[in-house]
Amino acid sequence: MNIEEKVWEILCSEEEIAQKVKELGERITKDYENKNLLVIALLKGSFIFAADLVRKIPLQTKMAFITTSSYGKETSSSGKVEIISDIEEELGDYDVLVVDDIIDSGLTMKYVCEHLRNKKPKTLASCVLLDKPSRRATTIEADYVGFTIEDRFVVGYGLNYGDYYRNIPYIFAVTDKNRE
Ligand code: IMP
Ligand code: MG
Repeated sequence: MNIEEKVWEILCSEEEIAQKVKELGERITKDYENKNLLVIALLKGSFIFAADLVRKIPLQTKMAFITTSSYGKETSSSGKVEIISDIEEELGDYDVLVVDDIIDSGLTMKYVCEHLRNKKPKTLASCVLLDKPSRRATTIEADYVGFTIEDRFVVGYGLNYGDYYRNIPYIFAVTDKNRE
C-alpha cells in the first residue's frame, strides 16, 4: 500500500473528540458513582482514548491493560483474535469497563468480553470511541459509543495504519484515490 495513492480526510477534529470524550466521561462517572470501577484498555489502539477518558472520570478507579492482536499492515481483520498480554488482577471485586478505540467486526470485543466474563467480574461493560456497525460479523454492541461512522478505514488518535500515525491528534479516514 502506497500512502501517496490515498485520500486523507478529517473525520473527527480534536475539538469534536474532546467534547465526545467529556460526554462519555460524564455518563460513565454517573453510572459508576457507587461502583468499584476497573478500566481495562485494549492496546495498542485505545491508549490515547483511554488516557483521555479516565481523566474525565473523577472516581477512585484502577486501570489495567490487555494487548490484543493487530491487523498488521492490512486494513481489514484476519478474523482471528489473540490475547498477547493479559491482566494479572482477579476481577471478582470489580465493575469492569473494557475500553477500545473502535468496534468494527466486533470479534475483538466479543472475544475479550468472553475472556473477562470467565474471570467473574461484578459487572462487565464496554466503551468505544468509534463504532462501524455496518461491518459487524457477530452479535455484540458496546455499552458506550462515541461516534458511529460509515465503513471507512480510520487513522489517528491511537488508531494505526501499518503501525504508524497513532500520534495524530485527530481522526482521518483513508481511501484509495481511484475508489469510486
Ligand atoms: P474488530 O475485531 O473487527 O471489531 O476490530 C477491532 C480492532 O481492529 C480495533 O481494536 C482496532 O485496533 C482495529 N481496527 C478496526 N477498524 C479500524 C480502522 O478503521 N482503523 C484502524 N484500526 C482499526
Ligand atoms: Mg485494537
